[in-house]
Amino acid sequence: MPFQRKNGVLCADTVALNDIAAQYGTPCYVYLWDDIEARYRKLEQSLQPCDAHIRYAVKANSNLAILRRMSELGAGFDIVSGGELERVIRAGGEPSCVVFSGVGKTQQEISFALKAGIGCFNVESTAEVHRIAAVAAQQGTQAPIAIRVNPDISVETHPYIATGMRENKFGVAEHDALDLAKFIRRDSRNLQFLGLCCHIGSQINAIDPYRDALEAMLALRQSLLDEGIHCGSVGIGGGFGIRYQDEMPLSFETLGELLAAYNSREVRFEIEPGRSLVGPAGLLLTRVEYLKPASQAGYRNFCIVDAAMNDLCRPALYDAYHRVEAVENRACEELTWNLVGPICESGDFLALNRRLAVQENDLLALLDAGAYGFAMSSNYNSRPRPAEVIVHGGECELARRRESMADMLELEML
Ligand code: LLP
Repeated sequence: MPFQRKNGVLCADTVALNDIAAQYGTPCYVYLWDDIEARYRKLEQSLQPCDAHIRYAVKANSNLAILRRMSELGAGFDIVSGGELERVIRAGGEPSCVVFSGVGKTQQEISFALKAGIGCFNVESTAEVHRIAAVAAQQGTQAPIAIRVNPDISVETHPYIATGMRENKFGVAEHDALDLAKFIRRDSRNLQFLGLCCHIGSQINAIDPYRDALEAMLALRQSLLDEGIHCGSVGIGGGFGIRYQDEMPLSFETLGELLAAYNSREVRFEIEPGRSLVGPAGLLLTRVEYLKPASQAGYRNFCIVDAAMNDLCRPALYDAYHRVEAVENRACEELTWNLVGPICESGDFLALNRRLAVQENDLLALLDAGAYGFAMSSNYNSRPRPAEVIVHGGECELARRRESMADMLELEML
């Protein structure tokens, strides 16, 4: 685990989390950059035998300081909005190393991406291709395009984050892809066909669905080649799971072996990992406000903390499990607690039925919160969003200051 105890105190590298709480306050996200970098290097190494490009999925954690560092490592990016493109550019990322996914790209977003020199639009419908062609024609330019295919593959994950089945809104059905590729080739003045891609879901721990998806992509690629359509890239998306509780996640080596088995000089693989690079390297630090133990059998023990579902919505939205660790070990009695926030909903829980020895004012850490943590936060209940801190080489850097009341209200008119 990236966060270790030293003299009984949970630390990020050499920095004690209680020092971070004292300096930056709580709730606060803490990211361990050295761990993210180690994950990236490991992935890169596992992909070495193949020609593969890593496009970090910005949505997992889009803090500018994270993006800047990713770009310095040599990562490309997978984005799903003009806002994410703006972030990548501001972080010093190269637009030609960016792929733009998503079912609802607006005209403005397409125009912005084309002007910026986007690497590829991963298109998800015929209608979108028409729109991109029109914008490209207007700008007198050629839009690079890959077709995102929906391979109709089911995966074991939360239904909200399975994306590669026919009932999902994503991608073009396999049987429509050939015609769409032909259409793209015909409009070669405005469109340039680069290849095929897919993304079958998130928090996937098995290799088989990736093998099935890859085989489907390669078979489709062969049908395109048979029609004389060059198809240089094949993307398998992201979705590689991490260990939140007792899952056995896919290793990057296994993934590398899969791609290596299908390696050929004519194909470049594209992968879009998000969670597996940043998830385990982040935690949400929170302080216990009140303890509300049950006074009678049949009631629950509530541990009320200063973080809530607006800061980390995964438990409320997906019933997600995040391990909880006390920053300092306490000698008090261990009880079974429901860790809840101050928000006025019973869905506002961060962890249920956890054995913890806690006292008022203690610091707790919700682990594996580096992906889809801050990125999905909101101001619900008019709660300013938390600070984000990066620990790098034993030093702390503020990556986003805590929102003030003024920040939160800035855009509103009386
Ligand atoms: N590529 C595309 C096109 C995607 O839609 C996604 C994630 C990824 C790559 C990266 O997937 P990852 O490697 O991070 O699993 N909010 C949810 C996860 C949503 C994932 C959406 N798409 C959660 O907290 O579990």
